[in-house]
Amino acid sequence: MNLESILFTQGFGSRRQCRALIADARVTIGDTVCTDADADFPAEDTSFCFSVDGVMWPYREHAYLLLNKPAGYECSRDPQHHLSVFSLLPPQFAERGVQCVGRLDQDTTGLLLLSDDGKFVHLFTSPKRKVPKVYVASTRHPVDDTQLSLLRNGVLLHGESKPVAAVDAQLRGERSLALTVMEGKYHQVKRMIAAAGNRCEALHRERVGGLALPATLAPGAWQWLDEAALEALRSAPNA
Ligand code: URA
Repeated sequence: MNLESILFTQGFGSRRQCRALIADARVTIGDTVCTDADADFPAEDTSFCFSVDGVMWPYREHAYLLLNKPAGYECSRDPQHHLSVFSLLPPQFAERGVQCVGRLDQDTTGLLLLSDDGKFVHLFTSPKRKVPKVYVASTRHPVDDTQLSLLRNGVLLHGESKPVAAVDAQLRGERSLALTVMEGKYHQVKRMIAAAGNRCEALHRERVGGLALPATLAPGAWQWLDEAALEALRSAPNA
């Protein structure tokens, strides 16, 4: 693939902007500056990397990313009241069409997936494809056994015709519980907790499918998902 196409597909701007980056000697392959936009490189090799202004990037046909979402960010490119999660990512991801794989509320923290692979986004957001998601909720009131059994057996949410049940609900503390849900309905976990007679004060997503939020990833930080992480994501039952 030629260098112009490599930069273009990776989100470094229009073809004209990519040619200009290259002509301005801002692009390096290995230790060598390359000013020839038509030079060919084996971009599909998994080890292929390039640098722009000294920052190294791997070539990826599709971007699969994980962000440790902090509170106060909206999962939208066009946020209404808060900053966008895209402000936490290098701009080329939005440029190449990366989108959130499902949404977390602005005040929800934790594991957020993003990708520019339409099939992948569809697979993990389709209501037909049930993917377990584990949330940890802090509650206003102590969680009691009645609330736990309501959450496990199903609560009727406003506007829904059938009860929604957590596939698992475990106490994590007097005012903390871990809920595993399969669906991705609007404000689902907060509404379930309210319907069970409590109130969610803070919500954190710690797992999607078999993929857990890495303990080493700081709030606001992101990382590429490698093959092993993608496999883990798919490995949970029904995922
Ligand atoms: N359920 C909610 O209520 N909010 C989220 O952000 C995710 C799941």
